[in-house]
Amino acid sequence: MPALGFGTLVGDRAVTVSATANALQAGFRHFDCAERYRNERQVGEALHAGIAAGWVGREDLFVTTKLWNTNHRPDRVEPAFEASLSRLGLDYLDLYLSHTPFAFEPGDEQDPRDERGNIIYDHGVTLLDTWMAMEELVNRGKCKAIGLGDISLEKLQPIYDAARIKPAAIQIEAHPYLPETELLEYCRVKGIVVLVFAPLGHGMRPGPLEDPVILRVAAQVAKTPAQVLLAWAVQRGTALLTTPGTAAHAHENFDISALPQDAMDAINRIEIRQRLNAVAKTGVPGFIPRGS
Ligand SMILES: NC(=O)c1ccc[n+]([C@@H]2O[C@H](COP(=O)([O-])OP(=O)(O)OC[C@H]3O[C@@H](n4cnc5c(N)ncnc54)[C@H](OP(=O)(O)O)[C@@H]3O)[C@@H](O)[C@H]2O)c1
Repeated sequence: MPALGFGTLVGDRAVTVSATANALQAGFRHFDCAERYRNERQVGEALHAGIAAGWVGREDLFVTTKLWNTNHRPDRVEPAFEASLSRLGLDYLDLYLSHTPFAFEPGDEQDPRDERGNIIYDHGVTLLDTWMAMEELVNRGKCKAIGLGDISLEKLQPIYDAARIKPAAIQIEAHPYLPETELLEYCRVKGIVVLVFAPLGHGMRPGPLEDPVILRVAAQVAKTPAQVLLAWAVQRGTALLTTPGTAAHAHENFDISALPQDAMDAINRIEIRQRLNAVAKTGVPGFIPRGS
């Protein structure tokens, strides 16, 4: 998996096409998609335009997409996978993730709620049931690797222990305010790639982008705060996803270089702890508008 990945959680479908094309031109080769983002078709369109223009071949791309919470029942896994593949216009995926460990009521409503507005969870399926159905996708050769999104160490361990095909990657929130050191160490020992989202703290201000330590390191190494945060993430051994909205940010986010050890140490000493996205606790995405 390329260390620098482009996340396709872009609110507007027309902007998805231009932002994906900008990322491709800036050099990104990993594209992180999801059935829940409802724009796989537009991502596929931009990738195919890049292939047709001769910028890249399919084999140069690493494409990930995710199984949504309403499709955790084993009989729904393959149809959901095939539907994603068809929307992307691809004949194989490099990585398929369960988006979150939470199963929602199966059906076409991606955000099933009861009359009080509470999510309707599906307690009739376990994550291991879903995982075993995902293993079948690898067996059929249409998916090179499988993994787990928004997973905690507590939930990852039993899947790892029981799995016939071990998780190749996990996707989690991580940044200097949420370093997830214990989970990273477990994954290092087991050979699981850790792919992080929110390396820029979802762009929130105040947040890691405005942290005084990050600003000091940026001045020290003559890079932008965003480039420092992305370099820190790569240098500690994680792959990352970022969603630059402009061509300028796409180029900036692809142009990172190694930080000196004293800068890494200073960032590692930041004591603020903050989870920005509650998705790992509930399965409800923090940044997708309801009903979209
Ligand atoms: N598994 C999950 O549950 C989950 C949850 C959330 C996200 N994700 C994945 O992770 C991807 C990344 O999302 P993210 O929110 O974590 O991305 P992010 O890159 O941390 O945050 C995006 C925000 O950062 C800003 N930004 C980007 N580059 C910048 C730069 N160089 N300088 C200043 N601001 C900059 C963007 O503003 P501009 O528009 O101005 O560039 C935007 O507001 C998503 O697209 C999705 O694929 C997964």
